[in-house]
Amino acid sequence: MRDSYGREISYMRISVTDACNLRCRYCLPEEVCVATAAVCLTGDEIIRIAAAGVSLGIRHYKITGGEPLLRPDCAEIIRRLKQTEGVETVTLTTNGVLLAQSAEMLRAVGIDRVNVSLDSADEKQYRTITGKDSFLQVCEGIRAAKEAGIVVRLNCVSDRDTDYEGLVLLAESFSVPVRLIEMMPIGYARGRVCISGREVLERLAARFGTPVSCQEAGNGPAFYVRFPQLAVPVGFISAVHGPFCGSCNRIRVTCEGRVKPCLCYEDSYDIRPFLQKEGQREACAEYLKEIILKKPEAHCFDRVQQVTEHKAMSRIGG
Ligand code: GTP
Ligand code: 5AD
Ligand code: SF4
Repeated sequence: MRDSYGREISYMRISVTDACNLRCRYCLPEEVCVATAAVCLTGDEIIRIAAAGVSLGIRHYKITGGEPLLRPDCAEIIRRLKQTEGVETVTLTTNGVLLAQSAEMLRAVGIDRVNVSLDSADEKQYRTITGKDSFLQVCEGIRAAKEAGIVVRLNCVSDRDTDYEGLVLLAESFSVPVRLIEMMPIGYARGRVCISGREVLERLAARFGTPVSCQEAGNGPAFYVRFPQLAVPVGFISAVHGPFCGSCNRIRVTCEGRVKPCLCYEDSYDIRPFLQKEGQREACAEYLKEIILKKPEAHCFDRVQQVTEHKAMSRIGG
């Protein structure tokens, strides 16, 4: 369906848990006391909201978190989504810590793509950023996913001390594309510096040559380039300095079953009452439609005082 600004909504991000096994400093810092994890949507509820989405023309589904692989039924949810009529792609965004042990199963259930968050190419710095010593485990996970034949990409949120050259070279060593993401002023990232994608691109161009834009499969806002002296594409997600709201195609569902029209604002709507039993698909789709029509025209990351979303990104689903 189209929203009230004429944008085609074709992509739903579903967070399956707000729990996480990392403590990224911009998302869920160590010093934050995490209350008991939310009562998350069940597998059945997730399938029902996807079925309602399909009836509105939503064909692409992203499983996210927190850390989605912490849920023992994560692969089962993906399997069921893939079997839902009208669903075209199901992708996963993970921190990769549990990926090595899940890769084979993810392939078996038909996952279309996995994005792995990796903010540093250096083991020590990875610990500083994420609070945990999981760097080698994540690298192992990336290798295992590649070996299982899964399409993998890396996500790196840019920060003041990011070693971009190291990261793109690490991505090259894995033969996977890497996306450099501008830090959005949400939750604990409010007040952190946001390095612009353009600045990063210029730094990389100085080392790897003049970039040429290229196409990569995906449902997200990234634009990709190739550098003559680098064997893998590099993507940029520049929500702050290069807003892509005009082509926004998505709606988010938090793990508690609240539908969120835009990342930037706290507004969200409880759809759970429509998910609890069979036979409510039409009513659920009707409510989802109403929420989609409330999608705002644009975010306001350039006017931080007006950003009303204060929750940790782990509770929203990134
Ligand atoms: P694919 O390209 O299909 O894999 O999708 P994606 O790039 O949307 O997926 P991913 O979960 O890897 O998200 C990467 C980054 O893009 C994260 O930092 C997200 O927060 C950011 N992002 C995703 N959707 C939006 C959006 O609607 N608005 C903004 N501002 N940022 C988004
Ligand atoms: N700005 C941009 N990206 C973020 N992520 C988490 N917090 C932020 C933020 N403030 C990223 C994660 C992951 C994706 C789902 O969202 O690193 O790659
Ligand atoms: Fe966990 Fe992702 Fe947040 Fe890091 S950014 S703490 S991996 S939810």
